[in-house]
Amino acid sequence: MARGRFITFEGGEGAGKSTQLKRLAGRLQAQGLEVVATREPGGSPGAEAIRELVLNGAADRWSAVTETLLMYAARRDHVERVIRPALERGAWVACDRFADSTRAYQGAAGGVDPGLISALERFILADVRPDLTLIFDLAPKEGLRRAAGRGGEMRFESKGMDFHRRLRAGFLAIAEAEPARCAVIDAAGEIEAVAAAVWAAVEARLAVHG
Ligand code: TMP
Repeated sequence: MARGRFITFEGGEGAGKSTQLKRLAGRLQAQGLEVVATREPGGSPGAEAIRELVLNGAADRWSAVTETLLMYAARRDHVERVIRPALERGAWVACDRFADSTRAYQGAAGGVDPGLISALERFILADVRPDLTLIFDLAPKEGLRRAAGRGGEMRFESKGMDFHRRLRAGFLAIAEAEPARCAVIDAAGEIEAVAAAVWAAVEARLAVHG
């Protein structure tokens, strides 16, 4: 059985990743593929418990380094229990956020040493790396407006505009540094137009048909 493919959805707040992930998962299932749709932080019972800790409470509840370690504790559990087994049985995994969110939120925007983050990637993720990363790009003001409409402000939405500007620049820098893995998706358009851009990127980069 061939190993499945691993697609990650990344970007700032309110970029529409979750809606697009559901649509892509449905479209891949219609091709006869087994698709595991999951998210981070979370995706396994242990990682969902860590999600509660890390996303709730005051904006300064955790330092950026502590957040990095919590994200990686959650990610390791998710990789061990959900992502790796799925890929090994040939399923495709579509994950709402993954390691690039730590690089962008805790690293580029939060100031954590990129050396620490790449060491965690090396030791904790080992060979589990995305085949394709879709980076949903949107002006922070628009993203925060959309996220606010969704209600229930979370810790990262309450950080300042400068944080969100560094975040966007951080994601775009990842896309620029790793063009073979990453595709930037303009998230400002209508849902249908964004879905078409997502599908075009997946078809162009991964063998979807048999
Ligand atoms: P979301 O489910 O709305 O995408 O929220 C997850 C939040 O967690 C979002 O604000 C980004 C943040 N986050 C990090 O800061 N670092 C990470 O590594 C991950 C996976 C998420």
